[in-house]
Amino acid sequence: MTQPVNHLAIIMDGNGRWAAARGMPRTYGHKAGVEALRRTVKSVPKFGIKHLTLYAFSSENWSRPADEIKDLLSLLKLYIRRDLAELAANGVRVRIIGRREGLRPDILALIESAEEKTAHNTELNLNIAFNYGGRDEIVRAMQTVIDDPSGPVAKGERVTEQHISAALDTVASPDPDLILRTSGEVRLSNFLLWQVAYAEMVFLDCMWPDFDEHHLAEAIEIFTRRDRRFGGVEAVKGAAQ
Ligand code: FPP
Repeated sequence: MTQPVNHLAIIMDGNGRWAAARGMPRTYGHKAGVEALRRTVKSVPKFGIKHLTLYAFSSENWSRPADEIKDLLSLLKLYIRRDLAELAANGVRVRIIGRREGLRPDILALIESAEEKTAHNTELNLNIAFNYGGRDEIVRAMQTVIDDPSGPVAKGERVTEQHISAALDTVASPDPDLILRTSGEVRLSNFLLWQVAYAEMVFLDCMWPDFDEHHLAEAIEIFTRRDRRFGGVEAVKGAAQ
């Protein structure tokens, strides 16, 4: 039986090219990107999606020009400030995944308040990857497992996949069923490296600011036509894990 996508993860790519095609600065594209993000958060529950993970700012994005970084940080702040009440009212639980250490105190405070204010919501789990890198997440998880005084290392036991999965930032969500990237680029860019082991990947040509419910429906349609075998031989049509 065809199952809906339970966890969708998106690499929102193409803001800069979308803006350049209009003769505008990159920030213009990022602002339009936030509108696409807002549309997407509203649309996904209609498709039965319970977990949505969005790649907003990678650990590598710090190498961008200082002005662009400043604008991206302002957009994150603006998004949380402007939309938090609505997200909370719509049952969205917000979590920020990524490295917290070294973040500006104002950003940290905002992240913590967004998580606290939505902690009891259950309609949609929204994970925003900020200052996030997949390898960095795995390294931090390994350190957590090693340092855990009641964990396997302290007890002289073997480390298992379950120990590592439980120490990742995404512990509250199942592995993604579908990874979607816009803009025609075909790579993962250090996103959810551990979690994508059996995810289906869909790459769409549209630039992120143009992304809407039709593109979302198209990606899910492609997903449902895939045979998921999870390393076995029996096809599991678009099965959620
Ligand atoms: C990729 O476009 C997108 C990003 C680096 C960040 C995604 C950011 C947003 C959707 C807006 C910010 C939202 C929040 C909540 C922080 P790109 O700049 O790499 O585009 P390009 O590949 O065309 O240059």
